[in-house]
Amino acid sequence: MRTMIIAGNWKMYKDLHETKELVTALKAAMPSLPGNVQSVLCPPYTSLALAGEMLKGSPFLLGAQNMSQHDEGAYTGEVSAKMLKATGCTFVILGHSERRQYFGETNELVNAKARKALAAGLRPIICVGETLAEREAGVMAQIITTQIKGVLAGISPHEMPNCVIAYEPVWAIGTGRTATPQQAQEVHQLIRKLIAQQYDWALAERITIQYGGSVKPDNAAEILAQNDVDGALVGGACLKADSFSAIIKAAQA
Ligand code: PGA
Repeated sequence: MRTMIIAGNWKMYKDLHETKELVTALKAAMPSLPGNVQSVLCPPYTSLALAGEMLKGSPFLLGAQNMSQHDEGAYTGEVSAKMLKATGCTFVILGHSERRQYFGETNELVNAKARKALAAGLRPIICVGETLAEREAGVMAQIITTQIKGVLAGISPHEMPNCVIAYEPVWAIGTGRTATPQQAQEVHQLIRKLIAQQYDWALAERITIQYGGSVKPDNAAEILAQNDVDGALVGGACLKADSFSAIIKAAQA
């Protein structure tokens, strides 16, 4: 059975004080996690070191929301994989649709970042997903196929099990509009098939594929019950300890 991974993408919310409050509340709400579930908190860069310290000895893992494709150098404003690891990060979200939409990230760039993350020993959570216009034009499958091929290019079969894929339909992010469990399952199945074509079925069966887009306590169980849905990437509902812990509990097999 694949491990369920519930990740919280804090986006550009929570200063240091608020980080302390939320991490304290989450540790109190979830002193342990259900056996088949892992949970990753992804605060902004400025909160990583504090959260990393606070999470020591807790069941929560730490992740970042982005990183540079470079090792180091004159890249003002950028943060490297090595820097993330030093704060305690084991995961990094890459290619989120907001990074693609507002910061021009392409499949090629996301691929370069993913390869760098893997080489540094970080597990990338690589995001893919179609826009509403693409879904309505009937090209969802082509878009997902291009994205998966692009972001996974050159990643070896040996590295691949450390990758997590997040399917995040852009039309469901922050909109309150969720994909139906059937819509999510259909795309997750497609992604697993694409991974099998690029690698093999045994490897594809091991890969965690998360769903993201308006996951809330009241819809999480139904989405997570789908065969090929192995976790969630949660935005809005991860900013409060009660809603995020309710989603983690919904992941229990
Ligand atoms: P949302 O965000 O849960 O607020 O829709 C999900 C995401 O962007 O990862």
